[in-house]
Amino acid sequence: MKKILRGRVVSFISEPANADDLSAVTYIEDGGILIEGGAILAAAEFSDLDTTGTEVIDHRPNLLMAGFIDTHNHFPQMQVVGSYGAQLLDWLNNYTFPAETKFVDPEHAERIAVKYFDEMLRNGTTTPVAFCSVHKASAEAYFAEAERRNIRALGGKVLMDRNAPEGLLDTPQSAYDDTNELIAEWHSRGRGLYVISPRFAITSTPEQLEMAQALVAENPTCYMQTHLSENHDEIAYTMSLYPEHPDYLGIYEHYGLLGPRALLGHSIHLSHRERSVLADTDSVAVFCPTSNLFIGSGLFNEERIRKDGIRIAVATDIGGGTSYSMLRTMDEAYKVCQLQNQNLPPLYAFYLMTLGNAKALGLESDIGNLDAGSEADIVVLDASATPAMALRMETVTTLPEELFVLQTLGDDRSIVETYVAGVAAKP
Ligand code: GUN
Ligand code: ZN
Repeated sequence: MKKILRGRVVSFISEPANADDLSAVTYIEDGGILIEGGAILAAAEFSDLDTTGTEVIDHRPNLLMAGFIDTHNHFPQMQVVGSYGAQLLDWLNNYTFPAETKFVDPEHAERIAVKYFDEMLRNGTTTPVAFCSVHKASAEAYFAEAERRNIRALGGKVLMDRNAPEGLLDTPQSAYDDTNELIAEWHSRGRGLYVISPRFAITSTPEQLEMAQALVAENPTCYMQTHLSENHDEIAYTMSLYPEHPDYLGIYEHYGLLGPRALLGHSIHLSHRERSVLADTDSVAVFCPTSNLFIGSGLFNEERIRKDGIRIAVATDIGGGTSYSMLRTMDEAYKVCQLQNQNLPPLYAFYLMTLGNAKALGLESDIGNLDAGSEADIVVLDASATPAMALRMETVTTLPEELFVLQTLGDDRSIVETYVAGVAAKP
């Protein structure tokens, strides 16, 4: 049966050129999104839609927007969030690697996968891109749970064969074989998409990065994700392991991992050469503000990266990040920009969470907007969800102001409902 979600429809058309660029967004005050079979048939004035034989769900006066996309997080790190007092390498060794070791147990992975997708949907995120643990079963648990809920989910098992506890190591060959089996089973099955995931250069031998190179070359429709230039000690250690390369990115470049489907988490401390290579290869720099502040990694230079023509995505980086919410994430992104005397206008912030992240994944025909033919992944947003927000909203008169209230004060309480392929799914 067809259904119509009624409310104030907001959908991005393009990247806003400035803080007030409303030409980048479609806004329909009394709008409706007509849905059938998990897809959007139309988003239009409610009065222009035929309601006969159609269920109408009235979400007025709330906003209806494309579901959020989180382009970098770690499904096995839910129990790492909020681990005290360490910067990246200690944080990995003291907290993160021990937590990931537990994913050798498929039952643990299955239990956490349920919690993970609950938390995504509670926060309005309809498409996550996840690093799973080194264990093949962790990726199986991730994709199986996503499939059960019909979620468009991207992810992959991490490749790591050194500099980690024994229980977290694969080998170049087992990484290659496991990844190939996972691609065969899950890539493009239903709404799942596979991401080849060498964790970062520190935890992969050159032999393993060669295997990653082969996987990327042999599977051109898969994605590639890794970590880049997050922390100064990490960079120094990386260059001591790969001294023959000009810089950190040069390692991934050498092994053929870059390109339009490459997602490089953090990308904070970059040289001019590295920025040129990112731009020239159409790779994506992934901004993870809550993580970068929490682990003390540094300030992502959003303006520099954008002006250099590098594609940008935004992400929570759970469990280095401290919130599952893309609203909280963009609040911190705003502050990271403020500390560098840069701006992050709300129209741009909401563009990044939706259409911008979809474009970073090359999935803008499927998700990230409310165009006819898109998948019906939709979030319902209430900018007056708490007493403090309602009070603040008394003075708000424009859409950008309202979005900025959501960005600065919003969290999962502002997510009234999350629709996954047209079905209400907020836990
Ligand atoms: N670098 C390598 N692995 C990780 C990880 O799990 N989290 C973060 N923040 N950085 C990493
Ligand atoms: Zn990460």
